[in-house]
Amino acid sequence: MEIVSPNFADLKTPNIEIKTFPDGDSYVRIVDIEKYSNKSATVFHRLYPNQNSSIIQVLLIIKTLTEVKCKVNLVSPYIPYSRQDKTFLEGESKSAKFICELLAEAGVQELTTFDCHFLKKPGRATYGGLQINNISLGKELIEHAAKKFKEEFVTITPDQGASYLNPEGHNMKKKRGSYDASDSKSVYRNIEELSFDFDVSGKNILIVDDMISTGGTMLKAVENIRKAGARKIACAAAHGFFLKDSFERLSSVSDFLFVSDSIPSKVSEVSIMPHIK
Ligand code: R5P
Repeated sequence: MEIVSPNFADLKTPNIEIKTFPDGDSYVRIVDIEKYSNKSATVFHRLYPNQNSSIIQVLLIIKTLTEVKCKVNLVSPYIPYSRQDKTFLEGESKSAKFICELLAEAGVQELTTFDCHFLKKPGRATYGGLQINNISLGKELIEHAAKKFKEEFVTITPDQGASYLNPEGHNMKKKRGSYDASDSKSVYRNIEELSFDFDVSGKNILIVDDMISTGGTMLKAVENIRKAGARKIACAAAHGFFLKDSFERLSSVSDFLFVSDSIPSKVSEVSIMPHIK
């Protein structure tokens, strides 16, 4: 049995109601709830964009189902807060772990997701008490690039953490600085260095990462690889947020750019659908 949220409408037909009260609270209604009683169901619900309200919505969906003793599996293609899996300063919240704990405590039997940042490899794992099936789109992203390049290319990941996406290619070394003290509201850490020691001169290059958020990593990678004499440069990622003007900037410096439909965008050219049918 499938429960499909309205925020999954591009891939499946929604069959539950999610609305918003005038004050912003989320409203969830599972139509014909009794038919899920003592059954198993898979919930398809994106947790991004609008991650904070989406998390509350999924908790309400899961709790409503478990109240009728339904066993719930969850498909959420991207897990928000996944980059805060470590603390850098004393007292910081381990957000990634706490979100997983919330989902496990609510009653999720297994979460299926894609290129989960803190797992750094595909397969099944338990994190914060949550059973996770982490699927990597690395192979599909590289195959899609091959169709677009139509000639030889070398694949590069812009940091060690994403190297599993590209087991046969090269990795750059990324060094981030400390939090920007001039912006008291933001916790972004600038990229201080993105270095590599392999030859890209005259070659076609695909840069593949788990996510493009502000685009800072990709833009720096393109800049450095371009300076070193690369021919065509393509950018790809499993998850594309394209914050601020990063879509326009990356489009203008790369030969082509694409992501998956884990988060819908204008360049969602690789689909997660074959994995979640
Ligand atoms: C970092 O470890 C990730 O793999 C990505 O490289 C990073 O999160 C991308 O963020 P941004 O686009 O803001 O540089």
